[in-house]
Amino acid sequence: MARDTALYVCQSCGTVHGKWSGQCGSCGQWNTLSEESRSAPPGAIKPAASAAARGRGLQFETLQCDTPEPPRIATGVAEFDRVCGGGVVPGSAILLSGDPGVGKSTLLLEVAAKAALRGAKVAYISGEEAVEQIRARAKRMGLADAPVDLAAATALRDILGTLKRETFDIVIVDSVQTLWSDVHESGPGSITQVRACAGELVRLAKNGGPAVVLVGHVTKDGQVAGPRVVEHMVDAVMTFEGERGYPFRILRAGKNRFGATDEIGVFEMGDSGLREVANPSALFLGEGKDRAPGAAVFAGIEGSRPVLVEMQALVAPSAYGTPRRAVVGWDSGRLAMLLAVLEARCGLGFGDKDVYLNVAGGLRINEPAADLAAAAALISSALDVPLPQGCVVFGEIGLSGEVRSVGRAEARLREAQKLGFDQVLSPPLSAKTRGVKTTAATRLSEVVERIS
Ligand code: TYD
Ligand code: MG
Repeated sequence: MARDTALYVCQSCGTVHGKWSGQCGSCGQWNTLSEESRSAPPGAIKPAASAAARGRGLQFETLQCDTPEPPRIATGVAEFDRVCGGGVVPGSAILLSGDPGVGKSTLLLEVAAKAALRGAKVAYISGEEAVEQIRARAKRMGLADAPVDLAAATALRDILGTLKRETFDIVIVDSVQTLWSDVHESGPGSITQVRACAGELVRLAKNGGPAVVLVGHVTKDGQVAGPRVVEHMVDAVMTFEGERGYPFRILRAGKNRFGATDEIGVFEMGDSGLREVANPSALFLGEGKDRAPGAAVFAGIEGSRPVLVEMQALVAPSAYGTPRRAVVGWDSGRLAMLLAVLEARCGLGFGDKDVYLNVAGGLRINEPAADLAAAAALISSALDVPLPQGCVVFGEIGLSGEVRSVGRAEARLREAQKLGFDQVLSPPLSAKTRGVKTTAATRLSEVVERIS
């Protein structure tokens, strides 16, 4: 008989080791191996004893379906619904992750309450807070009247038992790391438990059950704690982000089987919970119209919406040998590329200068269309000349210093106009927008000449 020895599972990457060591040989993390009992790995099939045990064979189906798709559940939190792709798909599984304290529980309590008020049957199961605490929060948020079924539980068996007996439209489980299945010996939060509990809940959702929303904790480096496999199991992975010190919170879909992944939802955290922000531009631009040298307003697109946001650069002489480069809200590799292009193609050197680039308001920009705005901010700061007031900027920059056109120029300009901007610095545009003066540039060097 095989000896029942223990297995050691890396809590960071999920690799299984036969013996303990201080460092995981697979991902290189230290002190992440923890002992777990040897149970049959998921998917392992024992040799069949008889023909009957060999399986029933598959029942194939066609792509066409006569029964209409069930309608999506609009929760009433419009920003959440949009990121889902137009409401929650019945029977789907969603994972919501984010830093501790960013507001995951607050958001989901709001989603639960608003959906329940619109007639959906919603359960909110918390393994982190007591029922009284959740009640107190709901009261503070003005949602105490919502008919949400509230429970504090961590035992998966109890949760599954209840969910099989009662029908719900949406079930929120906060958080998957607190759940605990008695089939496995390892403690709550361990990789085996997280995988097993998430798997069971997803299976329940897929078999005609409720839509399940799981809260997932993140590790220090921002990954969803537990195996990546949980991210593969669910239909949508959303992250809730916010810079410390800013009230803005951004909900982003990293994966979505039922909608676009570049959509964002913007919220503002206040004394009475989260407020949806329908017009984020006004929020990210801040007060006042006068912009100092180093500031450029980028006309961006986040998901389906145009958003104006200020990019701020500071170029200052270096006090020490190695010049500093620091970026908040943008890609540091992209900044390095821009500085190299400015130096090689425009003769603007930054070798003895510290360079800081910041996206105001705590937003994170991923669009290449922000290149020209970042470059304009850098040039403006380096030359100490402000950009024209009332000017927005967008365009991609290539390595040879050319300014390339980007998509959805009209939507960007319309948003700019709506917020009182009447000039644009961009690559040549195919259509003119009335009331907006266009300054077209095909090369970055032209932009340097114009600003100086
Ligand atoms: P929470 O939803 O508990 O975060 P998470 O579940 O992601 O850990 O949010 C906690 C934070 O939100 C806490 O720092 C306080 C803040 N908050 C407010 O500012 N106003 C409010 O009305 C609520 C409910 C929370
Ligand atoms: Mg919480």
